[in-house]
Amino acid sequence: MPEAPGPRRPSPGGPIRRWRIRRRLFATFEGHATADRRALPIRRTVRGIWVATPVRVIEAAAGILSAAGLLGRSAGTGSAPYHVIDAGSGDGRVPAVIAWLVPGQAVLGIEADAMLHARARAQLDALGAAGVIDPAHVRLAAGDYCDPETYGAQGIALGRTRLVLNYPDGNQHRLARFVATRCPPETTLALLTHDRDLSVDALPLRARQDVRAGNGPPWSLSLYRRSG
Ligand SMILES: C[S@@+](CC[C@H](N)C(=O)[O-])C[C@H]1O[C@@H](n2cnc3c(N)ncnc32)[C@H](O)[C@@H]1O
Repeated sequence: MPEAPGPRRPSPGGPIRRWRIRRRLFATFEGHATADRRALPIRRTVRGIWVATPVRVIEAAAGILSAAGLLGRSAGTGSAPYHVIDAGSGDGRVPAVIAWLVPGQAVLGIEADAMLHARARAQLDALGAAGVIDPAHVRLAAGDYCDPETYGAQGIALGRTRLVLNYPDGNQHRLARFVATRCPPETTLALLTHDRDLSVDALPLRARQDVRAGNGPPWSLSLYRRSG
């Protein structure tokens, strides 16, 4: 008689580990929201306004971007892979979620606010030390994301940019002009926002889609790009 199959053991990279990592990411970036609902993560910064994107919204948007071929190791291999820029990275949650979901994808988070930049660095260091993300492909820079010097100082070639992510806080028009004039024509500017009426003029709109995550109202993901 054949032996009955025993319980399935999770592999080190299996669903249980995945669940633990996801829980750790939520605790890192949203622990404060459940501990004290009055402590809304929103404040004015030196350049704009910091409002955090819910982690589950970033997770859903990353899935859409991966399916569209805009995220992933295949989007550039070799000695100088293509990179993703998170323009205005706040507390580092977008680079962290991308590093978790798309290991190997080079991602650069740029934030003008020194306090947020320091916080992002501390969070990513802790996630790296805990083995939640591999920090090898994630970089954070302090500075203006519309200043070429910010990239030069980090040795980042803007010509290798294929995706720029942004949660608009009033600076999206300036950013769109920067992408239109400084990045390759095939670079996609992805605006992920709760404001479904928002748009920019400097680049043609190629696609727009709702991002549904949890019970809240859907967010909107708009993709702008010069070349089709
Ligand atoms: C709406 S928050 C989004 C934060 C984060 N990306 C997220 O989704 O949780 C926008 C952030 O962009 C930053 N920011 C605005 N203009 C900037 C600029 N020109 N250079 C660098 N950071 C900028 C603000 O300081 C703020 O932290």
